[in-house]
Amino acid sequence: MSLIKIEDIAFVRFHAPDLARMHGFLDDFGLQVIARDDRRLFARGAGRAPVLHVTELGEPGFAGLALRAGSLADLATLAAAEGAPVAPLDAPGGGQVVVLHDPDGHRVEVVAGQEAPAEAPLPAPAAWNSVRERRRLGDLKRVAPGPSHVVRLGHCVLNVADFRASERWYKERFGFITSDEIAVTPTLSIGAFLRCDRGETPTDHHTLFIVQGPHGPGFNHAAFEVADLDDLMAGHDRLKAAGHTSEWGVGRHILGSQVFDYWRDPWGHTLEHWTDGDLLTAAQGGGAASLMELLGVQWGPHAPPTMA
Ligand SMILES: [Fe+2]
Repeated sequence: MSLIKIEDIAFVRFHAPDLARMHGFLDDFGLQVIARDDRRLFARGAGRAPVLHVTELGEPGFAGLALRAGSLADLATLAAAEGAPVAPLDAPGGGQVVVLHDPDGHRVEVVAGQEAPAEAPLPAPAAWNSVRERRRLGDLKRVAPGPSHVVRLGHCVLNVADFRASERWYKERFGFITSDEIAVTPTLSIGAFLRCDRGETPTDHHTLFIVQGPHGPGFNHAAFEVADLDDLMAGHDRLKAAGHTSEWGVGRHILGSQVFDYWRDPWGHTLEHWTDGDLLTAAQGGGAASLMELLGVQWGPHAPPTMA
């Protein structure tokens, strides 16, 4: 039994030495900068989270992730167990936060009580015609060029020093369930895709992926859900035309099944666009998977060396 059950990932934080440059990248990536002063930049998506991406002025680097608790009562439970204070969250949407650090020292904020803004408009949905089903009759499809419409943050991937220690830390506190554990041999696992325990409510195949790799602990990537496949492809063209660095994609993952497209921000942090991922209930359990399944694709280019 975990201390609490978190509902979702909330936002990610980075440090960067040039907020104007980050602002330009976020515009091309499809996040909306909603607040900016001389030392911080806050961006949101089209969904109801008030903030998804925070940049603070400083040497470039990952500065932590935030998870969303179900209630202020859960936050109080966590704070009491950890001996950590509940403090106001200094970000758009307000709310409260408890700041923890995982076994590798990654800053993990747990937030609750944020005010949800109204959803921003998305492109009108257009049905797909296939040979099995002609669903768009008499309507022309026209995809507007421009950045993807990022709706929400879906997951974060962390490289960890000790998979089992990190797995225990995250599961004991937040109620994560294993969707797929990456087994190198029958007795050695190096990572796991973890999802939230939302009971009967289907939730993303992974909200957090932790993996023990050759490079030691650190940030791997953060992944943002976009409106749909057309929206992802339009955004790909926009990022390419703007001269940003593509890392991997477009393809379809095996584990989680998402259509993915990985890019680098101006300081080399990997941010992913994705759509059409698997959604699982708590009762659907999990299984073991191989490295080949982790890095393989259902279609699309092979993983580059930077992803291995
Ligand atoms: Fe991902």
